[in-house]
Amino acid sequence: MKSNPHDATGPHAVSRRTFLKTFGTSAVTAATLGANNVARGLAQANAERSQGPGAVGVTLRVNGESRTFSIEPRVTLLEVLRANAGLTGAKEACDRGTCGACTVLVNDTPVYACSLLAIEAQGADITTIEGVARDGKLTALQQAMVDRDGLQCGYCSPGMVMVLTALLRKNPHPSEAQVRRAIAGNLCRCGSYPRIFAATLAASGQKPVTKLNVISLHDHAVA
Ligand code: FES
Ligand code: FES
Repeated sequence: MKSNPHDATGPHAVSRRTFLKTFGTSAVTAATLGANNVARGLAQANAERSQGPGAVGVTLRVNGESRTFSIEPRVTLLEVLRANAGLTGAKEACDRGTCGACTVLVNDTPVYACSLLAIEAQGADITTIEGVARDGKLTALQQAMVDRDGLQCGYCSPGMVMVLTALLRKNPHPSEAQVRRAIAGNLCRCGSYPRIFAATLAASGQKPVTKLNVISLHDHAVA
C-alpha cells in the first residue's frame, strides 16, 4: 500500500521538506550536488512556498476526466473527491491512514486518499470506485463481491474493491495468500474477510484453497 505523499510524481516530486532534509543532514550530499544543483534545488524548494495558504487551482485527472478545483494546498485528495468532485464512493473512516476505506488508485497503485494532498496528485491518473465499472457493467470482481456476499455494512467495500482491482490487474490469478496480503491494509470491522477472499478468487476463476465456509448466492438461488 503506497500512502506516502512525498513519493508522488509530477510537479512536486521533490518537496521542500525532502530537499531540505536531504541537504541538511548530509554534508557529503551538498558536496556531491555542486553549487549549481544546490541553487536549483533551493529555487525549486522556495518556489513551493508560493503555494497557498489561500486557494490555488489544482487540476486532477479522475476516472479519465480532467477537472480543476480551487482549493487550499493543505486539502487532501479524499476531501476534494468527496466534497468538490461529488465522488463519495471513497469513504472517510479513520482519516489517518490506518483503515483503507478511502483507497483509490493513483497510477494503478492503491493509495490512502486521506493521506495524500490533492495538489500532489496532479499529473497522475486517479481512479475511484465510480470509475471501475464500465458502461454500467460491474467488473468480475464487483459481481463476485455481490454474488458471494462479500460485505456486511459495506463501508470498507469500495476500498477493498480498489485494492483487489489493482491486484487482479497485476496478477490475474493470485493465490489466497496473495489476496490476504493485498488487503492487509484494509480493515473490515464486520469480519467479512472470508467472503471477500472467496469473491476475489472466484473473480479470477479459482476456488479457495482453505475452507472458507461461505455461501454463494448462485449456489442457493431463492425461488
Ligand atoms: S480513512 Fe483513509 S485510511 Fe482510513
Ligand atoms: S463490511 Fe462493514 S466494515 Fe467491511
